[in-house]
Amino acid sequence: MSARPPVGPFPQEETPVKKIEAYIRHEALEAIHDRLAALGLPSMSVTEAKGSGRQKGFTETYRGARSTIFLRPKLKLEIAVDDGDVERAVDVILELAHTGAPGDGKIFIYDIVEAIRVRTGERGPVVLESHEDDGLRADFSL
Ligand SMILES: Nc1ncnc2c1ncn2[C@@H]1O[C@H](COP(=O)(O)OP(=O)(O)OP(=O)(O)O)[C@@H](O)[C@H]1O
Ligand SMILES: [Mg+2]
Repeated sequence: MSARPPVGPFPQEETPVKKIEAYIRHEALEAIHDRLAALGLPSMSVTEAKGSGRQKGFTETYRGARSTIFLRPKLKLEIAVDDGDVERAVDVILELAHTGAPGDGKIFIYDIVEAIRVRTGERGPVVLESHEDDGLRADFSL
């Protein structure tokens, strides 16, 4: 028997947690990360992604062979935030990922049914709050 609450949807009265999944150009990452951190949203996951949007592949010559490239490299950002922070985080991405050219990327927003900090077992929106590591030594293992 476990005293832990089951993993499941937050009660209606709690602030829901959302995930922002954004596909961006590599060169936009640093500015987006810096701006979000300045707004108190320093946490994100970044993954190298290959994808295609609406455009047909473009043709290039590689080692003498003409080939059509359908998959372009992008970065995928995954950012879990309080519902109340979604709009300002999206605004940052819209401003700093935008060049106006095709391929600027896409943003998708999901409901998260539970968020858990492994170190403490805390659950819910509290795990998204930035903290000063409670006096722990600042190093990359934290
Ligand atoms: N519908 C989709 N589902 C999943 N991933 C997508 C989708 N659309 C785009 N992506 C991801 O976003 C990346 C960038 O897409 P892209 O910006 O080219 O979208 P687009 O719809 O073609 O818009 P644009 O006209 O600005 O090029 C893709 O390489 C892919 O990784
Ligand atoms: Mg495109």
